[in-house]
Amino acid sequence: MLDLLITHANLPDGRTDMSVAVQDGRIVEVTPGLQAPAHQTLDAAGQLLSPPFCDPHFHMDATLSYGLPRINQSGTLLEGIALWGELKPLLTEEALVERALAYGDWAVAKGLLAIRSHVDTSDPSLLPVRAMLEVKRRMAPYLDVQLVAFPQDGVLRSPGGLDNLKRALDLGADVVGGIPHFERTMADGAASVKLLCELAAERGLPVDMHCDESDDPLSRHIETLAYETQRLGLQGRVNGSHLTSMHSMDNYYASKLIPLIAEAGVSAVANPLINITLQGRHDTYPKRRGMTRVPELMAAGVTVAFGHDCVMDPWYSLGSGDMLEVAHMGLHVAQMTSQAGMRQCFEAVTVNAAQVMGLEGYGIAAGNDASFVLLQARDPVEAIRLRATRLKVWRQGRLLAETPAAQARLSLPGRPGATAFMPAG
Ligand code: FE2
Repeated sequence: MLDLLITHANLPDGRTDMSVAVQDGRIVEVTPGLQAPAHQTLDAAGQLLSPPFCDPHFHMDATLSYGLPRINQSGTLLEGIALWGELKPLLTEEALVERALAYGDWAVAKGLLAIRSHVDTSDPSLLPVRAMLEVKRRMAPYLDVQLVAFPQDGVLRSPGGLDNLKRALDLGADVVGGIPHFERTMADGAASVKLLCELAAERGLPVDMHCDESDDPLSRHIETLAYETQRLGLQGRVNGSHLTSMHSMDNYYASKLIPLIAEAGVSAVANPLINITLQGRHDTYPKRRGMTRVPELMAAGVTVAFGHDCVMDPWYSLGSGDMLEVAHMGLHVAQMTSQAGMRQCFEAVTVNAAQVMGLEGYGIAAGNDASFVLLQARDPVEAIRLRATRLKVWRQGRLLAETPAAQARLSLPGRPGATAFMPAG
């Protein structure tokens, strides 16, 4: 007897009328028209059953702190970093844990079941690290959290930066972070990339750096990151986050750089909501969009995912843990409006993000975790268009969240019984 049988589901790869059989928290079969006894059977009625959303770039230590101690007036990255510096002395472990747990609840409700969070290691107290390790422990039964040891103030620029980062790794942070464009000089930035990659190689850890989050076309730390990845044999374990300077780079240089990134097996994470609001702030008109070259990287074979980065914090006043909103913005900013492009944007917040995070057992296939989201949409494009309701969210066979279908009942002259927002059927 199966635990759960879902029938008549559409899958993101285009297969329709599929049955998904679940036993002991795992998917045991994915096939059309399966009939088998199950404790629970659910007719998906042609709606989309997707693997869970994954956020490969977030800051859980800063989330939901919007307005503390004041609001970012200029809206720039640099004022955001300064504001975070003002907030840090006021932080308590309890408040950090409480806000992150609240965000985790939002995430689960939105079918977001894996988050890679950068956590600031700059303060010698490592208070945010301890708080996020506690959050990771408490969320473990329902949400996968990876922690990146992130030297927000610069690993070389801030006193004790390297030591603090190493101590964060000793405490249990999973990934080596960095911020080369925030070091004092280009040379220091490159040195920080080398140093941090060597540290990751020594400890057998992945690398995920904030890299070239700048409109300066000469910010080329991604080149060093790709070089060090190859030199140290870190292929498949290194990610460059943001890479916004690539937006402003000379096309000739980009045409050399992108194949080097692909060759080094370095993945890329764009953060569309943040890139479109933080970049181009020094421009008058025309204003640059700032997001990295997503379709060009994808075409070269680079794994590209989209991250949320911020929700209601010193850098961004909006957001709700909705990775479809992230995909929607990424699609617009990158002008990925073809059918294939829109599907790639859905993959950027699901399978590509899972790949960046190195998640195992991910995806709707026999043998994988029975973790998936039933969306009120028929396919990935409709899901993005509608930022579709997450009707049901399962993790390892356990139902974690349900949201009623969105449906408006209209009272229109001459249109008795009219409704809106009923995509499936
Ligand atoms: Fe970030």
